Amino acid sequence: MTDRYCVFGNPIGHSKSPRIHAIFARQTGQDICYEARLAPLDDFAGALHAFIEAGGRGANVTVPFKETAFSLSTQRTPRAELAGAVNTLRFDQAEIIGDNTDGAGLTRDLAVNLGHALHGQRILLLGAGGAARGVIGPLLDQQPATLTIANRTARKAQDLAEVFSAIGSVKSINYAELAGNDFDLVINATSASLSGELPPLPPGVFAAGSLAYDMMYGKGDTPFMAFARNQGAARVADGLGMLVEQAAEAFFVWRGIRPEGAPVMALLRGE
Ligand code: ATR
Repeated sequence: MTDRYCVFGNPIGHSKSPRIHAIFARQTGQDICYEARLAPLDDFAGALHAFIEAGGRGANVTVPFKETAFSLSTQRTPRAELAGAVNTLRFDQAEIIGDNTDGAGLTRDLAVNLGHALHGQRILLLGAGGAARGVIGPLLDQQPATLTIANRTARKAQDLAEVFSAIGSVKSINYAELAGNDFDLVINATSASLSGELPPLPPGVFAAGSLAYDMMYGKGDTPFMAFARNQGAARVADGLGMLVEQAAEAFFVWRGIRPEGAPVMALLRGE
């Protein structure tokens, strides 16, 4: 019988995940089906349990259910614990195992697809919400020289830096204090691009040879990517590669086989 998987979100209509996993299944010869499921805002638990009862083997979880998925998990991986959120669930007997593949997706996109090794790098992470928190552990695992977190609401960046200082060199900074500092990699983990906005970056944060990475993606440059090009970043990238690679990592969690992300990215870019 074909194993069933899905992605839960609200809204979910525009999700690329069913398409990505269908390509992965074909690429690896795995017999799975994967669908998008709209969960009600006030009853994610009900939607989840209905899918498990219908024979679901695993699920991805997107906005706004990642924290609820964390709470509903009966077991969690260390990286999910660190992220404080769950984007990948595996159902095993009565257990709901919560994982988080977002950070692994980002670091794989950076290292493999973009060829940008993180060891010894000075990294600036913009934002201190769920998206930022989800990637800090995996970024620190790559042993950058420093990881600096800047956020509009300074307190949230300070709190994150405190939580993660036990596992790596991480500090917080105000946007205004960034003037005079430059970085090898600047990652936009704010939701500013969604509303066509730009985090309040001073000029001069992009070092020679730097990469500017926006976790968001869409048609053309986001405001952050346009700003980075203008400010002399050597390269800019959007978050499509992260989306594909977090999916590849989830596929690996479920099926024990890792699909190739690059051909899927090329396909999606062409559409
Ligand atoms: P997500 O789960 O996507 O991280 P979130 O938890 O709502 O969503 O966090 C959004 C992040 O984007 C926050 O860091 C937010 O800054 P504040 O904590 O100060 O609200 C940041 N953000 C959103 N719009 C922004 C903008 N125009 N400029 C700078 N930061 C912005």
